[in-house]
Amino acid sequence: MTRGKERGLEARLRGKRVLVCVGAGGVGKTTTAAALALGLAARGAKVAVVTIDPARALAAALGLDELSGEPHQIDPALLSAQGVAPPGELWAMALDVKRTFDEIVTRLSPDARSREEILSNPVYRELSSTVAGVQELGAVTKLYELHHEHNFDVIVLDTPPSRNALDFLETPTNLLRFLEGRALKVFLAPGGLTARFLGRGTGLVFAIFARVTGVDMLGELSRFFASLTGVIDGFGERIRGVAELLREESTSFLVVTSPEPEPAREAVFLAGRLTAAGMARDGVIVNRVHLHGLDGHSAAEVQALLCTELGDSLARRVAGNLADFDVLVCRDRDTIARLREELAEPDPVIVPHLNEDIQDLAGLARIAEHLFA
Ligand SMILES: Nc1ncnc2c1ncn2[C@@H]1O[C@H](COP(=O)(O)OP(=O)(O)O)[C@@H](O)[C@H]1O
Ligand SMILES: [Mg+2]
Repeated sequence: MTRGKERGLEARLRGKRVLVCVGAGGVGKTTTAAALALGLAARGAKVAVVTIDPARALAAALGLDELSGEPHQIDPALLSAQGVAPPGELWAMALDVKRTFDEIVTRLSPDARSREEILSNPVYRELSSTVAGVQELGAVTKLYELHHEHNFDVIVLDTPPSRNALDFLETPTNLLRFLEGRALKVFLAPGGLTARFLGRGTGLVFAIFARVTGVDMLGELSRFFASLTGVIDGFGERIRGVAELLREESTSFLVVTSPEPEPAREAVFLAGRLTAAGMARDGVIVNRVHLHGLDGHSAAEVQALLCTELGDSLARRVAGNLADFDVLVCRDRDTIARLREELAEPDPVIVPHLNEDIQDLAGLARIAEHLFA
């Protein structure tokens, strides 16, 4: 195995065109994705970061106050202070998942009428906003578009804050299975299930349902599926494209975790599933690590060391504080050791817990420094 620098993130990510940050919610995925993008731009790449639910301050720093559905370039003048100079460029967009889904339909619909039919259909509205996995689909289809329709060197993709990060990975294939599966064909076939339903006793049940609730469920459903016919081919192709893109050699998954036990367990689980799904994991990032406590001394030793500088009472308080931190330092060290072993990852990237929230380009640059250290 190569040693030293070659194991650093920069070397590992060389030649990669798509980076996907996965991990539990709240561990710093969005921050890491943005910092990675900034760091790569500082190394001369034209980078787009696709964020999901960025914290408000970070969104503002990236110029994402309004969702446009398209990446926009961050002012090079602002970036130069963070070491980004041509040919490096940083572009950012925030994903509005719902809009992305509508956009896909809009793009793929053969004509305005069928587009309107789908977009206004109550079943579609329900499906596109609530069904599990549709969010994730929105994210990956946007990725596909950016990859194929723009000339970014690298696209960094943040992933939705799903309880189960794997929905994200499995959605394309599941949806494809659904679209190509028999269930849908049966619905769509002329004189198929829908027609039969309507013509029989079950039709009566639905008719009563419709009268009571005012929702013509079956009618809506069949209209929905009928209007989908026109877009299905393009959709399937896109989803297949995404599924392939996620497994390409130039695509990397980065598992992001905090050193807390629960997210760390999720990281191990997630890594296993990535491997099972044939997706390459090229790095593990442990974010918000506590590095400094008593640094191997006892609290009494530290207090004695600080005593002349700070006076007795303050020295005791500081030593007490450091002792509290020391608990976290030890916990984090244990978690990292466990992650090393369970992920067979000798070199996880360690990003320290910084004292302030990361809410501007300078903050991202500080994180990037650690990522690429
Ligand atoms: N290394 C760090 N040090 C200090 N604060 C951090 C660090 N990484 C992330 N944060 C803060 O943690 C919060 C959650 O980060 P975020 O990236 O939104 O997490 P996620 O996308 O995983 O939900 C944000 O307020 C961010 O500023
Ligand atoms: Mg996030």
